[in-house]
Amino acid sequence: MNTRLEAKEGSDLYVEASPWVCDLLHNKELECLESFSKKDPILSVIGPGEKALPYSYCYVDRKIGKSNRERIKRIVKNGSIIFADYRLESLAIVEETLERAGFFDRGFFVPQRDLSKKIDFGNLESSSIYFMLQDLRNPITFPRESLDMIDMTLSGHHAYTTISEARRIFRELYKSLRPEGFLHLGEGKIDMNYPEEKMIKKALEFERSGDKVVIIDNRENDKKTYILPPKGLNELRRIYLTPEELQKQKKLEFDSEGNVFFENQKLKNNLIDPKEDYYFISSIDNFYQRIKRLIHPVEELKPMFYEMIDKEQCQSGQGLSEHYLSPEKICELLRDQGYLDVDCFDHINRDIYYPFVNITARKE
Ligand SMILES: C[S@@+](CC[C@H](N)C(=O)[O-])C[C@H]1O[C@@H](n2cnc3c(N)ncnc32)[C@H](O)[C@@H]1O
Repeated sequence: MNTRLEAKEGSDLYVEASPWVCDLLHNKELECLESFSKKDPILSVIGPGEKALPYSYCYVDRKIGKSNRERIKRIVKNGSIIFADYRLESLAIVEETLERAGFFDRGFFVPQRDLSKKIDFGNLESSSIYFMLQDLRNPITFPRESLDMIDMTLSGHHAYTTISEARRIFRELYKSLRPEGFLHLGEGKIDMNYPEEKMIKKALEFERSGDKVVIIDNRENDKKTYILPPKGLNELRRIYLTPEELQKQKKLEFDSEGNVFFENQKLKNNLIDPKEDYYFISSIDNFYQRIKRLIHPVEELKPMFYEMIDKEQCQSGQGLSEHYLSPEKICELLRDQGYLDVDCFDHINRDIYYPFVNITARKE
């Protein structure tokens, strides 16, 4: 058995970067799960990333170290883990990674490989690892009160683009938890909700001139969202209109370059304007600067790391792909949904200004 991860050079930068960038976040993530004591719990890891870090491997000297299977087994005991993601290919790589890390060796876990089979939550096998397709942008399909622990680290902000979508996800996760169930979130210490606020502001400007306006958000090209101007600023919500219904509306449209169109006429001000929206851009720049400062790789890897981070920074600056809500907002939303003991751990006692936080909460 080979319990070491073979990250092919240059092909898996996220894995190479994780021991630098995510060490504190990931270590705290596992500590939080360890603090939950229940006999043989059912844990779901939502958005594990292809290499399922930090479940699969621990970090040693800023590198991927040995398999973490003993530590994970101590957390789950004879319970089970359900790795859920929206991409089938990622789940296949998670399975491969865990196999390589010795998770499916005798005395650890049994892989439940058949992804086409609906998981029978009422009759989960003990000491098993399941894989499940779940796009968080769609309704969450865990049965009511089926999970003891949910871990969603660095994945929620990819799925929600608006506060009301985040609220929906937290509400559905709450329903999936059993009484006294435990939630862990890992998120960024940054607020990227600005583009959504800007969309609303622009829509309201047009509404004031007497037109009922529908916002059409085409920024993420894999899913079109139709969002009505809200009553309150936090109520931007996704609705689905038939083509006929849509025809009747006045349309304010945003494309993936941040261009804004009203009734097919391009407007002068983009969704994010480097001058007008200076504070948003500079807070994003700061966030990624902090991430860059954490990484001290060997010289030959530096350009690749920086390229990866610059790309993310550029997307975030356009209001694309990364939709971090501030930790304060997340905690507020969790409390609103009925979670108790909502707590945010933000690693403030370090020399560096660490850009991620761990958030925990529980159900009554
Ligand atoms: C940055 S990775 C985080 C990986 C890992 N949890 C970590 O902490 O390093 C984001 C994960 O979220 C998943 N993800 C992104 N959008 C999603 C969605 N709409 N529904 C479910 N998972 C999603 C990705 O496939 C990926 O596994």
